[in-house]
Amino acid sequence: MAEINLLESYPRARRPLGRATLPGKPDIAKRYGREYFDGDRTEGYGGYRYDGRWVPIAARIRDHYGLTGAHRVLDVGCAKGFLLHDLKAAVPGLSVVGLDISEYALAHAMSDTQGRLVRGSADRLPFGDGEFDLVLSINVLHNLERARCIAALREIARVGRRQSYVQVDSWLSEEQRENLARWVLTAVTYYDPEGWRQLFAEAGYHGDYFWTLTE
Ligand SMILES: C[S@@+](CC[C@H](N)C(=O)[O-])C[C@H]1O[C@@H](n2cnc3c(N)ncnc32)[C@H](O)[C@@H]1O
Repeated sequence: MAEINLLESYPRARRPLGRATLPGKPDIAKRYGREYFDGDRTEGYGGYRYDGRWVPIAARIRDHYGLTGAHRVLDVGCAKGFLLHDLKAAVPGLSVVGLDISEYALAHAMSDTQGRLVRGSADRLPFGDGEFDLVLSINVLHNLERARCIAALREIARVGRRQSYVQVDSWLSEEQRENLARWVLTAVTYYDPEGWRQLFAEAGYHGDYFWTLTE
């Protein structure tokens, strides 16, 4: 288990802080539909489009975990399959599978990942024990309330046989904590690093992890 940032090259998020306090706004984002991915920025991504940002991250993941064409990778909360697309390009022959709760994201996924994606929830993975060499889950688990978040971490440990990497909302300073509280759209479970480590221990999660910080 290691604290390691595999997303160093990911562009810093420019989140429209203050959204969480807008009066009377329904929780549209939590439906993970068109509004969340391709609607207004105050409801989510404001356009979740492939722009190549995952290319260097896929190379970093390949190198860090020594991925080869003999391996099988699962991305839990894969959205439109951008990372899986770039992992396939970075590792010829790699077998990839994605899971997401969003019908919209899966219907609009990269064409070369279609057929490799399944709809489901992170806390009930429809896979057998030890099916994957590497399980990834980036910016997903904080969207589950605590008990389901723990269940999801156990599921990740169960279906993986070698390595895993999860990234979740957290903070390293008071300013980042306040920024997260002012932005939070979909997250319901978030802690400082020590709080997350306690939750990982409770779940028996021994994989790698890092934090998404709100600047
Ligand atoms: C912030 S996005 C991250 C997407 C992608 N991993 C990335 O980093 O670009 C969160 C994703 O988690 C998915 N999601 C939310 N709750 C989920 C659940 N219980 N099980 C699986 N996926 C979930 C959403 O549909 C969405 O695609």
